[in-house]
Amino acid sequence: MKIILGPASKELGERIAQHLNATAVPVFFKTFPDGESYVRLEGELKDKEAIIVQTTSPPQDSRLIQLALIADAAKRNGAKRVTAVAPYLAYARQDKIFLQGEALSIETIARMLKAAGVDGLITVNIHEEKALERFPFPAKNLSAIPLLAEYFKDKGFKGAFALAPDKGAIYIAEQAKKVLGGECGYLEKHRDRYTGNVSVEKKKFNIKGKTVIIFDDIISTGGTIVAATKILRELGAEKVFAACVHPLLIGDAEKRIKEAGVDEIVGTDSVPSHVSKVSLAPLISEELKGEFS
Ligand code: R5P
Repeated sequence: MKIILGPASKELGERIAQHLNATAVPVFFKTFPDGESYVRLEGELKDKEAIIVQTTSPPQDSRLIQLALIADAAKRNGAKRVTAVAPYLAYARQDKIFLQGEALSIETIARMLKAAGVDGLITVNIHEEKALERFPFPAKNLSAIPLLAEYFKDKGFKGAFALAPDKGAIYIAEQAKKVLGGECGYLEKHRDRYTGNVSVEKKKFNIKGKTVIIFDDIISTGGTIVAATKILRELGAEKVFAACVHPLLIGDAEKRIKEAGVDEIVGTDSVPSHVSKVSLAPLISEELKGEFS
């Protein structure tokens, strides 16, 4: 097995290669003056299982193109099979037709990757796992929620209340509860399909004086966490943390979240940033070990 270090996930790729004691293949890349991407693999792949580690967080379009170009280069250089590890899979939130005339974006992306030479995919906490069933190659979803919950347990927050900001994410709160051993619950969130504005319905939880950790797959604009935190503060939570797998933190999201009263934001290296305090390397390495050894 060879681990190809996609430009968007070089450090994560190196950590995975180290865990697996596998050879890492660097990628030379550049952007032409007109904005086009260029990649060149700097290693041998003949008859090898090629694992490309490349997240597709913003700028997602150029990262997806890089991923497709690397897959093509891997196949042309004799790789037996190409597996894309894209911890954050761009366009996964458009997994349905919500309004007439829309594209089914995630399926378009999957078909594009297949055409480029991808034979299988591993992602982490995709917005809706069912979307993977329609992919034209085997695709696996892993959950990093237990790793995030372990982070808080190690910091002394065993027994904290685990909250999902959305009914659809209750499975996330349940996974966290298994590690933390406290209670869990969910809020009801509504998003206006035209404006993108988020509103969260108030619910009664017995959290007065308690530590609450909001677990979500993505923090993008921060609107969801801000709305949830306001409710938690009104209910008397003593400490509020926000944990997510993919800390996109667009614009002033972090500032808004902190101003709403969140004590700390914790994310993973799916999207490398200063809040990426939990690495996905052990989770992804275990999966690769199981699949390929
Ligand atoms: C969507 O339902 C996801 O689970 C997240 O809650 C959402 O993407 C977060 O977006 P934002 O930070 O913009 O509210």
